[in-house]
This record gives sequence, C-alpha cells and structure tokens, in this order.
Amino acid sequence: MEELIARAAEAIVGSELTIALTGAGVSVESGIPDFRSAGGLWEKFDPAEYATIEAFRADPEKVWRMLREMDAVVRGAKPNPAHTGMGELERMGYLHCIITQNVDNLHQEGGARNVIEYHGNAATLSCLSCNEKYRADEKRGNETPRCRCGAILKPDVVFFGEAIPYDAMNRSFQLASAAKALMVVGTSAVVSPANTIPSIAKRNGAVIIEINMERTHLTDSITDIFLQGSAGQIIARLVEAVKERAGGKG
Ligand code: OAD
Repeated sequence: MEELIARAAEAIVGSELTIALTGAGVSVESGIPDFRSAGGLWEKFDPAEYATIEAFRADPEKVWRMLREMDAVVRGAKPNPAHTGMGELERMGYLHCIITQNVDNLHQEGGARNVIEYHGNAATLSCLSCNEKYRADEKRGNETPRCRCGAILKPDVVFFGEAIPYDAMNRSFQLASAAKALMVVGTSAVVSPANTIPSIAKRNGAVIIEINMERTHLTDSITDIFLQGSAGQIIARLVEAVKERAGGKG
C-alpha cells in the first residue's frame, strides 16, 4: 500500500491539473450511509418508488418520508479526514476541483472552495408549480414543506429522470477532458452521466487514481492506481505523501 500511495502522490504532484469525482463513500465516515452497500439507503427505500421525479410528482408526501430521514442524518454530520484532506490538497494547489455527486455540503465544510455539485444541493427547496425558492432550514420542522402557493416543495437535488444542472455538466466535461490526473473517491460509478467522467478523463490521458473500500467496475478497466480502504484513512496518508514530495504550489 505504501508504494501505491507513493505512486499516487507522485502522479498528483506531477500533474498540471488534478480533479476528483466523489460519491457517497466519502461521507460514510461522517455517519451518512451510502446508497448501494449493505445497509445503504436503497436497501430501505426502493429508488424507483422514492428517487424518481415521476415518483415525486405522483406522491410527494411519500417521498418526503425518505427526504426527512436523509435530512436528519445529514444535518448532524461533520466533515471527516477525506473531506478535510481534499480541502488541504486544494489549498496546497494540488487539487483543482472536486466534482461531487453528494448533496451534503461536507466538501465545502471541509475547506474545499472549488466544488461542482453534480447532483445539486439539499440546502434549498423549489416549488415545481410557481418556481419560488426557499432555504431548507426556513422550512424545517414542517411535516411536509409547502410553498406559499400551496404546492409541496422539492429539494434542489437531482432525482432520477431529471437533468443535471447545465453548468455543472458543462464544467465537469471540460475539466475531465483537460485533467492530467483524476481521483475517483467513494463512488460505485454506476449512475450516468456522472460515471462518464472517469472514461472521458482516461481517454484524454489522465492517470486514474481510485480510492474505495471495494473494487468497482472501474478497478479492472480504467483505474491505474487502486487504493483500497476507507477514504478518510487513505486520503490522510495521501496528503502526507504529497507534502513529502513537494513544497506546495499555493
Ligand atoms: P454508491 O452507494 O453507489 O457507492 C458508494 C461507494 O463508496 C461504493 O463503491 C462503496 O464501496 C464505497 N465506500 C463506502 N464506504 C466507503 C469509505 N468509507 N471509503 C471509501 N469508499 C467507501 O454511491 P454513489 O456512487 O455516490 O444519485 O452513488 C451515485 C448516485 O446514486 C448518488 O449520487 C445518488 C444515487 O442514486 C441520485 O440519487 C441521482
């Protein structure tokens, strides 16, 4: 493992543009379960029934049962060493941007500034009827948050069947095309189109560094350096290895 971490650190220090794609695994050590592992959210809530935009439109009260549960877990969560370590890499000038599929704001709370929220953010709510927007904490406590027009509000996270925010998609594509190194952290990389980012980067010559507890379909196909373990522990070691090899760019 020491040798693999050293290779990853060298790739990062030698890269002109390093970006990261992160998923739910990054926040597991903050106490937020992921979606597809044993005990994950999709074991409890069938995504076809709870996570599609059709499901929300058909029965928003039902979908809010899941959203309230997620909100309660996310609200108390604090950034872990994976978030803070990536924030530190950014501060040192070795991580240009984090593209995250997470909606928990923990990368930003962990010190990262340049974060693309590919699946939106749960901090704001929108009315699908009149387009009015609200802060989620303004509406917390209500059983099911409603707009002043009466409609049930939807958090500004991307449900299955909804488009990725245009700017997030566009910037991610450009960065993936230009990156010299890509860290893929805590994602099963099965959800499209976020999961096209690693192959776009690879095609354009980026070194793919994958950090995950388990092997994924990327591990034997496009990953160059696989660091198996918890994101918090691996990233902390990686940050130390980067520091040893470089005086810092920033
Ligand atoms: P998944 O639940 O599909 O995958 C989480 C990944 O993190 C798995 O590969 C785990 O092995 C890994 N993992 C778990 N704990 C870890 C840890 N402590 N350290 C490192 N890795 C760990 O979650 P995502 O890939 O993020 O989208 O899922 C992508 C999208 O699917 C989500 O954004 C959400 C979901 O449906 C929508 O709802 C649109």
